[in-house]
Amino acid sequence: MANTILVGAQWGDEGKGKIIDYLTDKVDMVVRSQGGANAGHTVIIGKKQYILHLIPSGILRPRKKCVIGNGVVIDAPQLVKEMTGLERKGVRLKGRFFISDCAHLVLPYHKALDAARDVSKGKKAIGTTKRGIGPAYEDKVARCGIRMGDLMKPEYFEAKLRERVKVNNAVLKALGEKPLSFAKIHAECMKAARKLAPYVTNTVVLLHKALEKKASMLFEGAQGTFLDIDHGTYPFVTSSNATSGGACTGSGVAPSRIDKVLGVMKAYTTRVGGGPLPSASDDISDMLHNMGREFGATTGRPRRCGWFDAVAVRHAVMVNGIDDMAVTNLDGLDGLDKIKVCVAYKIDGKRTNYVPSDIDSFAKCEPVYRSFPGWQTPTDKITRYKDLPLNARKYLKALAELTGTRMSIVSVGPARDQTMVV
Ligand code: GDP
Ligand code: IMO
Ligand code: MG
Repeated sequence: MANTILVGAQWGDEGKGKIIDYLTDKVDMVVRSQGGANAGHTVIIGKKQYILHLIPSGILRPRKKCVIGNGVVIDAPQLVKEMTGLERKGVRLKGRFFISDCAHLVLPYHKALDAARDVSKGKKAIGTTKRGIGPAYEDKVARCGIRMGDLMKPEYFEAKLRERVKVNNAVLKALGEKPLSFAKIHAECMKAARKLAPYVTNTVVLLHKALEKKASMLFEGAQGTFLDIDHGTYPFVTSSNATSGGACTGSGVAPSRIDKVLGVMKAYTTRVGGGPLPSASDDISDMLHNMGREFGATTGRPRRCGWFDAVAVRHAVMVNGIDDMAVTNLDGLDGLDKIKVCVAYKIDGKRTNYVPSDIDSFAKCEPVYRSFPGWQTPTDKITRYKDLPLNARKYLKALAELTGTRMSIVSVGPARDQTMVV
């Protein structure tokens, strides 16, 4: 398979983990390039469910190599927990898992600040995952972060951590929070460092050596287009570039080496956390929650659900350069007699076909819907596109036309075999 960047085309949780796992069969390496343990990528293999937060979902295919690139922010003890959890389930990591020495660390003060700040925003809270993502990226950009390579140098790490704990304890105190213990953080980090050391390397060189040997790569996007720090619904976003460009800066693999961008989207819309969602529908939310679906893989929070928003996905196609699309959760719509799709927005009564760039205008967007007849028959056992009900195929064709892309994969269930190539 060509070198492919896979991105979420909505607000995250599009089913990226499932599609990555499906496609990993066809590549040599899977690379994470942004985000951190805020991600929750679900992969179901047989009766086992895996939720990956930091480790690329490709790890579940033996012999494939997986890389955490320089753009990811890593909570070291959390990564160790994830690694041991996988090892207990029989997944071998040695020789096939690599961590960038340039990736920044998420430390306990980042998590404490993340929680304290978001709570203090009250009704305007972003509803972050409290994984310390924002404060860790702040330190990176402010050039006072601590990187994975620093953790491998005990003396340097100790001095740098001591200084950062002191600074951040003063900030926490000002926010009315308890100070953190340097000794405790230091001990936890050193314990994690011992486990991580064999995996930490210069992943830029590793990836380029692999490219020289014609290895094919799949870049596993985390979050989604509308959570992107630049292109998302700011300020209700995460702190990294979740759009396709982030895959290059976050791995050191240049745009000229990328062959294709694959978008992943649900057949409807979901969002977890704060911020507007123009096509939100209580009926759809209730229906999916009653089916036991659409609860966050990282925080367990119910996701807000709505009709498919073609305006938003059109924007995602534009900013990511999406060539092909994988649509997931088609089966979620099986029971409906009528399915709505948001084809435009109205702001103060004026129609627009574009996502406005400022949040106040976006909050005012009222959806303009087009209705499609449902198929009212289960699709979860269907394995060939041509066997899907006619109305389901018509719906998918309409989504492709409305978003200006090509539908190449359709998913009708969480398992590997509930996937069809169009
Ligand atoms: P990610 O963050 O993009 O990897 O997505 P999540 O794993 O957070 O959420 C997607 C959810 O949908 C998970 O529970 C998946 O197991 C599930 N899923 C993925 N594709 C399908 C599908 O086609 N049908 C159904 N029923 N579930 C799916
Ligand atoms: P995956 O990779 C869905 C949301 C949070 C919050 C906002 C900022 O599983 O698709 P953060 O903790 O990043 O500062 O939170 O972004 N969010 C996600 N929503 N899927 C994700 O990842 C998310 N990662 C962050 O809910 O609204
Ligand atoms: Mg998720």
